[in-house]
Amino acid sequence: MFIKTKIAGVEFNSYVLNASGPNDSTLEELEIIAKSGSAAIMMKSCTVEPRKGNPEPRYVRLPLGSIQSMGLPNKGYQEYIKFAPQLKKFNKPIIASVAGLCTDDYVKMVEAFQKSDVNLIEVNLSCPNLEAKPQVAYDFEQTEEVLSRISGLGKKPLGLKLPPYFEFAHFQQIAELIRKYKVSFISCINSVGNTLIIDPETETPVIKPKKGFGGLCGDYIKPIALASVRAFYELLKDKVSIMGVGGVKSGTDAFEFLLAGADAVQIATTFEKEGASCFERINKELEELLKRKGYASVQEAKGKLKYL
Ligand code: SIN
Repeated sequence: MFIKTKIAGVEFNSYVLNASGPNDSTLEELEIIAKSGSAAIMMKSCTVEPRKGNPEPRYVRLPLGSIQSMGLPNKGYQEYIKFAPQLKKFNKPIIASVAGLCTDDYVKMVEAFQKSDVNLIEVNLSCPNLEAKPQVAYDFEQTEEVLSRISGLGKKPLGLKLPPYFEFAHFQQIAELIRKYKVSFISCINSVGNTLIIDPETETPVIKPKKGFGGLCGDYIKPIALASVRAFYELLKDKVSIMGVGGVKSGTDAFEFLLAGADAVQIATTFEKEGASCFERINKELEELLKRKGYASVQEAKGKLKYL
């Protein structure tokens, strides 16, 4: 098939999968993803203990995307370890996503998932929605501490979910750590953290947690996500698989990420809005676009951005 791809050596039967985020917390939700056109089954980022998450309203659709401050509502990592054998029958890669509240949490969860039935482990270093807990990946020392402690814990490929960076020096610093600790894949980007949407009628923010500061998603952030994918592709091509996340709602969007250098794209906002049929639709649109442009596979177009 045209749109088959590989992430960290693991085969994906298409280019599009769900992002860790909406509708992937319960077994029922994960089964819906498993039965859809999603290339893999990505789980909600989990913590050591179950969490209810932040007070509502905490997710609001916007004209060009969404703002959210979910606060990692999840069932706790042990439940996701139990879900994995029940999802194996769908014959798709299963991806755990772990979000520690401290370094020891990351170690505990990665160690446990290394012994589980999941195929890949995404280490979320970029949740912007926890009160008084800055995003780990903006602190390069803490990022290195986490990587040094989790990288030797097992053979399953480890990936990082990264926040947006806006300086080339920061792309380079993270790329050095990725090389040093042999990270196998990256997912970029998480939502753009700590943004504010104000409703002029009510004269309030649209979400409640953190006095309205939340993660911006969807079309608003696509150019930021494309830039991250491109920057990391230029720094790390052949060393790491890249999953692009941010504002993919059509095959054309997916193609732009492919040109930038992404091996796959993840979808959150469009999945929340449209439901699981979005994966098949976007895969189909991408396949048609590639055929129309004369490409025989995603690999042929990957990273082939032309410069002016
Ligand atoms: C959340 O649950 O707050 C979103 C997860 C994330 O941004 O990593």
